[in-house]
Amino acid sequence: METVVSGIRSTGKLHLGNYYGAIKNFINMQDEYNCFFFIADLHSLTTHPTPENLHHNVKQVVVEYLAAGIDPEKATIYVQSDVPEVIELYLYLNMNAYVGELERATSFKDKVRANPNNVNAGLLTYPVLMAADILLHKATKVPVGKDQEQHLEMTRTFGNRFNRLYQHDYFPETFAFSYSDNLIKIPGLDGKGKMGKSEGDANCIYLSDKPEAIRKKVMRAVTDSGPTQEYQQKPVEIQNLFDLMTVVSTPDTVAHFDHLYNTCNIRYGDLKKQLAEDMVVATEPVRSRIEAIADDKAYISRVVNLGAEKARESARKTISDVREIIGFKPF
Ligand code: TYM
Repeated sequence: METVVSGIRSTGKLHLGNYYGAIKNFINMQDEYNCFFFIADLHSLTTHPTPENLHHNVKQVVVEYLAAGIDPEKATIYVQSDVPEVIELYLYLNMNAYVGELERATSFKDKVRANPNNVNAGLLTYPVLMAADILLHKATKVPVGKDQEQHLEMTRTFGNRFNRLYQHDYFPETFAFSYSDNLIKIPGLDGKGKMGKSEGDANCIYLSDKPEAIRKKVMRAVTDSGPTQEYQQKPVEIQNLFDLMTVVSTPDTVAHFDHLYNTCNIRYGDLKKQLAEDMVVATEPVRSRIEAIADDKAYISRVVNLGAEKARESARKTISDVREIIGFKPF
């Protein structure tokens, strides 16, 4: 059976981007593959969270994984820092990852631009740690959103380089995966880029948002004064609302509003009301389970302990192979 690995950083509440870009695929894949889904708490250290925040955020992601329907009986759910083997593999891969290629990674350049006062080495080698997460279990498929595509390319580069260096066919090739034809990119509410925590709270619909909060955020989304001629191309912020609608609403609903737009009969208030209601419905099954799971501390601890055990078993095997391939032999 093919192995699947993916993770989400512990930076707080999960949003629609995480859900449609990653989690929805996790849920479908758990029935078909040997799945490892983890909480990337080591990756989240690049932004220096306080110990309290870190712990709280790790728990939040575990709870939302479970609330969304990831089943610990089918998939291995673990916390990245519970599997220290990944740090060892990260070190080995770092020896063959070149500073120039790491500096050219789009995500690194974006982070440097956004926060020039915190360009730490962890940020530079972020894709190496990510490759270590994936190669640790010799995964071949990685369900992620569009923004992670380049990191998957780098994972293939590092894995292939290791294989070539040691003339060994050890690591398999790994590819980004989505059940949809293309990798998903969920836009933020402002139409200026992807939905993301660093893009601001007003831009994000969280899975835990109450219906009233969702309605408020959607109704505040920017629109224009409406089309002035039939079949006019939609401006970015309007296209954006339609893109979000394509994700949460039925094709008939999208076609209905598309027709109103194309015939200059659209009322943006109606479009946004419909979009908000469909978002409320789409998030309800997850939202309604979050609180009860969050209160069940014993269950959460059982899930992550069992996950750590299973993930370490797989990780130990890889590390033992890799040590031997590299030439670390007992005397
Ligand atoms: P993170 O926490 O930034 O994002 C987690 C997952 O959510 C997806 N995602 C989106 N998809 C579509 N549209 C959006 N607006 C959107 N925002 C986020 C991301 O593509 C991702 O799949 N580096 C990873 C965490 C990681 C990882 C790994 C993933 C660490 N090691 C190994 C896979 C395999 C990340 O950025 O997470």
